Amino acid sequence: MGKNRICELLDIRYPIIQAPMNWVSGAELVAAVSSAGGLGTLGPNSGAEDITPDVEATGERMRAQIKKVRRLTNAPFAVNIVAGFGEALKYSKKVVDVVIEEQVPVAVVSVGRPDTYTRVLKDAGIKVLHAISTARHGKKAEQVGVDAVICEGFEAGGHKGFTELTTFVLTPMVADALSIPVVAGGGIGYARGVLAALALGADGIYMGTRFMVTRESESHDRVKEAIVKGEDVCTVSLQKEFMLARDLANRFTTEYMEIKRAGASRQELNHYLDEHSQYRAQHLGEADEAEICCGQVAGLITEVQGAGEVLNDVVGNISSCFEELKHRLAEFL
Ligand SMILES: Cc1cc2nc3c(=O)[nH]c(=O)nc-3n(C[C@H](O)[C@H](O)[C@H](O)COP(=O)(O)O)c2cc1C
Repeated sequence: MGKNRICELLDIRYPIIQAPMNWVSGAELVAAVSSAGGLGTLGPNSGAEDITPDVEATGERMRAQIKKVRRLTNAPFAVNIVAGFGEALKYSKKVVDVVIEEQVPVAVVSVGRPDTYTRVLKDAGIKVLHAISTARHGKKAEQVGVDAVICEGFEAGGHKGFTELTTFVLTPMVADALSIPVVAGGGIGYARGVLAALALGADGIYMGTRFMVTRESESHDRVKEAIVKGEDVCTVSLQKEFMLARDLANRFTTEYMEIKRAGASRQELNHYLDEHSQYRAQHLGEADEAEICCGQVAGLITEVQGAGEVLNDVVGNISSCFEELKHRLAEFL
């Protein structure tokens, strides 16, 4: 039997990637996931105590986290490069330099063009996974030589483009259009979701929200509690200037939508976002007053667990879910 393409590419045991999360996925979470056989990914502001506008400090903070992961595990891991556009490129360029200097095995590149950093990362021997939200973008990423794409459906927590394609539709579109491996994310947190994504053509799985609600994540305890309490329609999709963001519904999301509806200007909206940033929720614990990026899968999460436990739960239940599926299929096939 051949090896799973994502496991082979990334040299990991299970094709499950912990997605990067701003202010959430620091060295401890990354090391716990990687040690358990998945791939952990350091996100922006990992391990940070405050917001820095300094480019140098942004890179050096990431270097410190990379070194910390290496003290905790020998397993492969990834660093998120939020490429960005215009002014933001100076930050991502610095993170790319650090990733290359530190010889991080894998880069997860998001929010940007695939031709910005793919060549320089690949020339340095680093595997490149690029996040996309349409098959057309996937094709472009494949053409510039990324090793795999990550398709993020509308269910996903956090920021994405303006498309509303769900994981159920996007994954087969991308898998049919591309020859390189495809990782599916958005709404996946349990074995049933993994099995469904594999059936849709995914080679690997990308999970953010479920890993946010773990003991090792840097989310504030009040944020984890709020997610555990969330049921049914507990997230909303907010329209921001450049993208959609899926957040846990709270006072912040209600107020944001109210001031938007009332005709607030672009500057007023951006000012409101700055004043109620993820830092305030994730680091200071203002779980009702500030922004918590969060996927729809929150409605399925009922407890805070260890990250290794989450991975073992997901992987350990795939076979029983598959058996159950075979019984269901036998009922009519
Ligand atoms: C709290 C939070 C913060 C996020 N921050 C980032 C980020 O900094 N960079 C990024 O590429 N994606 C970010 N994302 C998106 C995730 O990497 C991933 O696409 C998403 O969590 C997958 O969907 P799921 O939440 O349904 O598992 C974030 C998601 C969450 C929930």
